[in-house]
Amino acid sequence: MALFGFIDSGIGGLTILEAVQSALPKSQFVYLADHQYAPYGNKTNAWLIQRLHLLCDYIISQHSPDAIVIACNTASTATLDYLRTTFDLPIIGVVPAIKQAAERSPNNKIGLLATPGTCQGHYSEKLITDFANEHLVIKVGTTTLVDMAEKKLQGEAVDMSILKDVIQPFIEHHCSHVVLGCTHFPHLRQELEQLAGEINWIDSASAIAKRCRFILDQHRFTSNHQSTESIYLSTAPLPDQIDAILQPYQFSRCHHVTRLDNYATTY
Ligand code: DGL
Repeated sequence: MALFGFIDSGIGGLTILEAVQSALPKSQFVYLADHQYAPYGNKTNAWLIQRLHLLCDYIISQHSPDAIVIACNTASTATLDYLRTTFDLPIIGVVPAIKQAAERSPNNKIGLLATPGTCQGHYSEKLITDFANEHLVIKVGTTTLVDMAEKKLQGEAVDMSILKDVIQPFIEHHCSHVVLGCTHFPHLRQELEQLAGEINWIDSASAIAKRCRFILDQHRFTSNHQSTESIYLSTAPLPDQIDAILQPYQFSRCHHVTRLDNYATTY
């Protein structure tokens, strides 16, 4: 049985975890939500590298995962190269599905809905140059929807007029496909489809599930993990509704992780 570590700034990575859990039902998961420093979307690359190094260090030293999924587009686009050269285990990144959107668009008009960091970063620019250079690509960078998704899971109603304003550029430019380039945003899929059903909203969850299966088949991990449970770790105190939020993801325990800095190595 393999153990996957998952890291995100909050509940966004759960949209990826759900797909991986159903593709690999015998695997275990340690999900680390960095609620203390969310959102990531307005942090610098240097900050993200330092923070993700610390989080990977923690998860590796405490849980010995076979592989780590950086279940966050913002962190993946800013840190993947660094993490892969620093840590000696498979690191799976989640990056905007520009290629899929470009291939599927019948009118060559696509959108990227992501955090400001992901929208402005070199990684996304390169994806656009490599796979969508003949397309009109409308980019919308927002941290508002990250907060909206977090609050929705805690039971707050989604403000549809704010959401409509955010996605208006895609509607105006007749984008056929819009990439949900932030793992928080599939939590808002129902509302997005309600507001703009003519747009195909694309996320990376099934691609990452396939990638995890491939990594599992390729590596045939032999490590023997003592426990068979999946756990949710948060760097901030857990909200009252945490059980209801996490119930669909089969976590058997949730913890507030304190003193993460104790696990830092030198970098
Ligand atoms: N869920 C993350 C992403 O995919 C980060 C959102 C944030 O913290 O700004 O980009």
